[in-house]
Amino acid sequence: MHLLVTGGCGFIGSNFIRYWLSAYPEDRITNLDALTYAGRPENLEGIDQTRYRFVHGNICDETAVHDAMEGVQTIVHFAAESHVDRSITGPRVFLETNVLGTHTLLEEMRRRGDQIKRFHHISTDEVFGALTLEDANRFTEDTKYAPRSPYSASKAASDHLVRAYRETYGLPITISNCSNNYGPYHFPEKFIPRLITNALRDKPLPIYGDGKYVRDWIHVLDHVRGIEAVLLRGKEGETYLFGGNVEPSNVDVARRILALLNKPESLLTFVEDRKGHDRRYAIDDTKAQTELGWTRIYTFEEGLADTVRWYQEHPSWWLPLTID
Ligand SMILES: NC(=O)c1ccc[n+]([C@@H]2O[C@H](COP(=O)([O-])OP(=O)(O)OC[C@H]3O[C@@H](n4cnc5c(N)ncnc54)[C@H](O)[C@@H]3O)[C@@H](O)[C@H]2O)c1
Repeated sequence: MHLLVTGGCGFIGSNFIRYWLSAYPEDRITNLDALTYAGRPENLEGIDQTRYRFVHGNICDETAVHDAMEGVQTIVHFAAESHVDRSITGPRVFLETNVLGTHTLLEEMRRRGDQIKRFHHISTDEVFGALTLEDANRFTEDTKYAPRSPYSASKAASDHLVRAYRETYGLPITISNCSNNYGPYHFPEKFIPRLITNALRDKPLPIYGDGKYVRDWIHVLDHVRGIEAVLLRGKEGETYLFGGNVEPSNVDVARRILALLNKPESLLTFVEDRKGHDRRYAIDDTKAQTELGWTRIYTFEEGLADTVRWYQEHPSWWLPLTID
């Protein structure tokens, strides 16, 4: 099989490409990536170049998209602007990449008739909005969309567009909405790598507001194996949710990282809250488990310890990317 991966130099896309090339020695991958600040070609160092093609281009650019889709049967669409804080200070590029870029891919796929057998769209649980701390509910595939940030609104719009292209033009699509990922190659502006890289340098660990924001953390390789399960066994037109079945508060995550690194809790620093901060996300991924046979491998304790170790061992990757 020949796959087109968009955004394959980012965090999840690069973990996916590494995994897929080693698990499927017959397959080839084309990676279309614009190399924004989040796109790091070094994330893919050491992969088998004979089965890999890189197209440097923007998913909003019809010519680049046309070139990248040559000979491809399956598309896994990761490329996006992905940082909520950046969407608050500069939303426009989120609409361009996440909505218009997705549209450009769908249009090129439509022009190619039945060449492409599957378009898998990677989305987020943030499209469902926020749960309260008291709420016993978790998000399921049937939860109503209620995005609350420009990032999640742009992802919600792209999900709707992908479904609309199936209804209107019959394109063979699947969608997965995943909770917060963590693991190797995670850009240090994001919460967990920021805490780890700050702690490693004895810098303050910034915690938004009261620190009681709850996220459902999934190890990136459990997510990657979830995408694999959708590609192999997912039903066309369906949506699947993936989560980590864990709900620590942000301040709890920070304390665990400090403990793993033997650093003092005095590094915890409460800072002004994010605007419109979603209180809690939690995922019920029963459907993925029962219909796809997917299971998580990592507990949060093991995954976090592995991730901390990875950052300890790879300062040359993250040091040039750190922000204080
Ligand atoms: N990271 C998470 O916790 C998480 C959780 C759920 C869903 N997601 C979704 O997973 C996908 C990947 O997230 P990530 O964390 O790996 O993101 P990332 O920011 O690490 O990587 C994004 C990649 O897309 C590329 N890109 C950005 N704009 C582009 C454009 N216009 N054209 C081509 N390439 C472009 C970047 O260069 C980069 O390589 C996104 O769609 C995101 O919404 C992420």
